Amino acid sequence: MSRGFSSSFLSLLIALTLAVVVSATPVVQVRENFIRLPLAKKFNLTGTHTLLARDQARVQLLNARAKARLTGTPLSSDAVISVPVDNQAVSYIATVSVGSPPTEYDLIVDTGSSNTWVGAGQPYVQTSTSRQTRDRVSVTYGSGDFSGTEFTDTVSLGSGLTINGQSIGAATRSEGFDGVDGILGIGPTDLTVGTLSPDTSSTIPTVTDNLFSQGIITADEVAVSFEPTTQEEVVNGELTFGGTDSSKFTGSINFAPITRTSPASEFWGINESIRYGTSTSILSNTAGIVDTGTTLTLIASDALTRYQRATGAVPDNATGLLRLTTAQFANLQSLFFTINGVTFEFTANAQIWPRALNTAIGGNANSVYLIVGSIGTPSGEGLDFINGQTWLERFYTVFDTANSRVGFANTPFTKATTN
Ligand SMILES: *[C@@H]1O[C@H](CO)[C@@H](O)[C@H](O)[C@H]1NC(C)=O
Ligand SMILES: *[C@@H]1O[C@H](CO)[C@@H](O)[C@H](O)[C@H]1NC(C)=O
Ligand SMILES: *[C@@H]1O[C@H](CO)[C@@H](O)[C@H](O)[C@H]1NC(C)=O
Repeated sequence: MSRGFSSSFLSLLIALTLAVVVSATPVVQVRENFIRLPLAKKFNLTGTHTLLARDQARVQLLNARAKARLTGTPLSSDAVISVPVDNQAVSYIATVSVGSPPTEYDLIVDTGSSNTWVGAGQPYVQTSTSRQTRDRVSVTYGSGDFSGTEFTDTVSLGSGLTINGQSIGAATRSEGFDGVDGILGIGPTDLTVGTLSPDTSSTIPTVTDNLFSQGIITADEVAVSFEPTTQEEVVNGELTFGGTDSSKFTGSINFAPITRTSPASEFWGINESIRYGTSTSILSNTAGIVDTGTTLTLIASDALTRYQRATGAVPDNATGLLRLTTAQFANLQSLFFTINGVTFEFTANAQIWPRALNTAIGGNANSVYLIVGSIGTPSGEGLDFINGQTWLERFYTVFDTANSRVGFANTPFTKATTN
């Protein structure tokens, strides 16, 4: 495609600015243009597994995916046979158009996988821009799996901003994706290795990579803005390709390098430590990941024991979460997450499940449930925490492919008392 900007690029969804952002580190970044894509939150907990069980299944899957990557063996659904197949309970969904004339698909935004595919709900519609490749494609998820044929096609984000020749999967089979059409995978590109056949060693450029290589955005990065909400369905998030949206965060963005510790290093992995209140250490500096596909905030089992002792919470059998009395909640201290020397405060309100949605997860309307849960294994295994949706709803996050780093900033909602 031409690198010149046609007038359609000057439409709604592209902001041509020359903003100079000076962060705490002496780095001057010039932002020329970026794309904003609205995100809808969708809550649909059906099936037999609790939120915690689903999130723990996803951890097993992510570990298996990393192991497959590191050993060069393809990940088959047999490798994760113990993982229950239920729909993801809470999803952030972006609407993208494929083909010409375009068909719209609602796709789950996933930073823990990197394939983009359609056809789970609405089938893939072939048009004049569709090109079938010689490859079959298959990906296994904590919430199901899909297989199909790999195509290249025109993909549009918002009004008319198009990527030519985006590689996408067209599902012929999928399980665990009721109510959505597929996945928009914005994890590290290497996670696509092994998903194609016969081209088993090829990588598939993600949507972010192609926006960058086709000159549509000037920085190979994507930023995520989620907000806390007490509604089951709401459009309250934003995905920003190629830049950061200063209306979505306060102060500066503080970056941390991708951790060197495996398996967290295979994903958007960072080092962090967690403290409760002024001085109770919950988790000393260790590796974990930031993940849009995990609902809760998960920490190693020994760290959860320390958190439980500090808060006085008890396990709640119905929800799988920890539970507090209202008196205990009144005394709940903040958690402090320290990432690359910068500390982020996760308030008492941030630590609880929205009470308006208690009954939707099998809980009691008058109880207080904590969104911090166990990752299922002790610390020291190279993936000791997951900062999931409940965490991302309090902090703006930048996934920076070009510089192999993840950035965080406070938002107008960091200390909101929404829950
Ligand atoms: C919720 O999930 C169930 C089963 O998993 C599915 O049948 C239903 O269509 C979903 N509802 C929505 C609104 O997506
Ligand atoms: C992260 O922590 C590990 C030890 O837990 C350390 O080896 C590593 O240097 C730290 N930093 C990065 C960027 O990985
Ligand atoms: C815990 O919940 C499970 C299923 O939700 C149930 O089978 C079990 O009896 C419960 N245990 C207790 C101690 O309530």
